[in-house]
Order: sequence, then structure tokens, then C-alpha cells
Amino acid sequence: MPLQVTGEVLSIKRVGAYQAMTVVAPGIPALTRPGHFVAVQVGGPESSMLLRRAFAIYDVKDRGVYGGTVEFVFAVHGKGTAWLSARRPQDDLDVVGPLGKPFRLPKNPVSVTLVGGGYGSAPLLPLAAALRERGCRVDIVLGAGSADRLFGFLDAKRLGDSVTVTTDDGSIGQPGRVSDVLPGVFDRSRTDLVYTCGPMAMLRAVSDLAAERAIPCQVAVEESMACGIGVCMTCVLPVVGDDGLTRMVRSCVEGPVFLGDRVRWDELGTVPPDTVGAITAGGHT
Ligand SMILES: Cc1cc2nc3c(=O)[nH]c(=O)nc-3n(C[C@H](O)[C@H](O)[C@H](O)COP(=O)(O)OP(=O)(O)OC[C@H]3O[C@@H](n4cnc5c(N)ncnc54)[C@H](O)[C@@H]3O)c2cc1C
Ligand code: FES
Repeated sequence: MPLQVTGEVLSIKRVGAYQAMTVVAPGIPALTRPGHFVAVQVGGPESSMLLRRAFAIYDVKDRGVYGGTVEFVFAVHGKGTAWLSARRPQDDLDVVGPLGKPFRLPKNPVSVTLVGGGYGSAPLLPLAAALRERGCRVDIVLGAGSADRLFGFLDAKRLGDSVTVTTDDGSIGQPGRVSDVLPGVFDRSRTDLVYTCGPMAMLRAVSDLAAERAIPCQVAVEESMACGIGVCMTCVLPVVGDDGLTRMVRSCVEGPVFLGDRVRWDELGTVPPDTVGAITAGGHT
């Protein structure tokens, strides 16, 4: 059961093109697993920005004088994240979490490749730590548009058996996209399992490459959200179930982590006609 807490901002610091914010949030760390996210109220009590903003959890500290903290990393995107970037230590922040379903971990010590795009690498770093604890081999691929939009390189160096970096502009690492280097990483590390988080187009490319080799792939999607708790249906996307049928599934409650080969990437943003319960041509009278 997620908690709602009003905690103080403990720190906000610039990391390349992003902001990393740590908030006092007693109770949330103990419930958090890699892949969970928080929903943060923006704009203050008088704001017309009623919808919370979702951020993947990067780090939690369960103990210490603050009784538990949560850290997340964000890019300034629109009004809500601009407001958030202007918060200062000791400002109050209302946070709900942990939300969503986390990444599922393998039972055995297998070989795992993690693929992060931009700030999407943030939830993969605690995942890397959890996988290492289980004895997995962990190869990490980080991609970004440019060097300042790469997140988590030092963590990845500490946690990964190998780290491969790509940037679109070649300002750091290999020029190009993560999909250019992934086949080589899969072969070298004999990957059994892939986890990925980042822009939707990247998730799809990673998922397709994994599917070509029949490697199971978990993707953490970033579908637009409103309530974050399963009520409004804003965040639905078409996902194929174990029975082969497509359903519109809420990414805030049933996700944000899905099996990549179950997401109908071509039909994102639509309700495919063969979806269970879809209104078919002719419709109702
Ligand atoms: C599960 C999840 C995890 C996320 N993790 C992170 C993270 O770790 N770091 C980070 O920087 N961003 C993350 N995002 C995206 C972040 O929630 C949006 O960038 C943010 O809501 C934009 O708010 P805004 O007011 O600045 O922008 P606006 O464009 O003004 O937002 C208006 C509305 O659109 C929604 N929205 C806009 N862009 C997005 C988007 N990309 N994804 C989802 N909803 C969007 C907002 O929630 C808001 O309701 C995550 C989104 C989800 C769903
Ligand atoms: S955001 Fe409201 S149901 Fe998912």
C-alpha cells in the first residue's frame, strides 16, 4: 500500500542536464523495490496544476536522522518540473509512493543486460545492485543524446561487469544509439535477460532486438499519467496477456514494467480493434 507523506526537500543538485532531488519520506524506502515510482504534487497548495508528476525512484535510504529519504532524477520538461526545479532545501513536498509494480528479479544468477536511456537509467542502477546481490553478471548500456544527458555513469562503473556508453552526437562513448551496440553486448555477455528504461522508441528497439534472440525483456514505460493510482485510465496501453488477448492495461498499476514483447508498440495511443471490450466498427446503437 503506497504512503502519502509531506516531507522536506533535503537536497537538490544539478547532474548534467538533470536535477537530482532527495526528499524526506519516512516509510516509503522500506516498501520500495527497483522500478517503483513516486507521484509528486507540484505547484503548491493554491496551484491549478492538479495532477501529480511521476518520477522513477533512483535511491532510497531507510535509516538515519531523517527517518527515510527518497531520491529521484528529473529533466525540466514543462510547468510542473520547472516548479520542482525551483524547490530549495527545507521546502515541503507532498509525495505518494512507492507506486506501480517493480522489475521482476530472476531466481538464479543469470547474465543480465540493463539498457538505460537518459534519466531512464536512474531506476536501473538500484536494480543493478539487487541483481549483483543475487550473483548475476550485469552488463550495462547507457545511451543519451549528448554527454550532459547521460545519467549514472559512475554508478554503472561501480555496479556493472561492463559499461558501454553511446551518445547520438558522439560527445562521449560510441557515436550512435544503444541499438547499434546491443547485439555485440548480447553476444559477448551471453545475455539471459534484458531490462530497459528510457524513451518509448528506445524501449521498442531494445525489446525488438531482445525478441529476435528470444531473450526475455522487461521494459519500464513512461506513459502519460494523471491519477497514478489506477482510477482515471489515462495511462492505458495495449498489452497482450497470457491468453493471447489484448487488453488496455494501466501502466500506473499493472506497470510501469511490462514484458517488451507483450506491448503492442505499433498501436500505442490507440485502442486496437481486437482489444477485449473495444467498441468495434458499427458500434452500439
Ligand atoms: C512511471 C513514470 C516515471 C517517470 N520517471 C521520470 C523520471 O525519473 N525523470 C523524469 O524527468 N521524468 C520522469 N517521468 C516523466 C515525468 O512524469 C514528466 O516529464 C512530467 O510529468 C512532466 O511534467 P511537466 O509539468 O513538467 O510537463 P507538462 O508537459 O506541462 O505536463 C503536463 C501533463 O502531461 C504529463 N506528462 C508530460 N510529459 C510526460 C512524460 N514524459 N511522461 C509521463 N507524463 C507526462 C504530466 O504528468 C502532466 O500531467 C516519468 C513518467 C512516468 C509515467
Ligand atoms: S494514471 Fe490514472 S489510471 Fe493510471
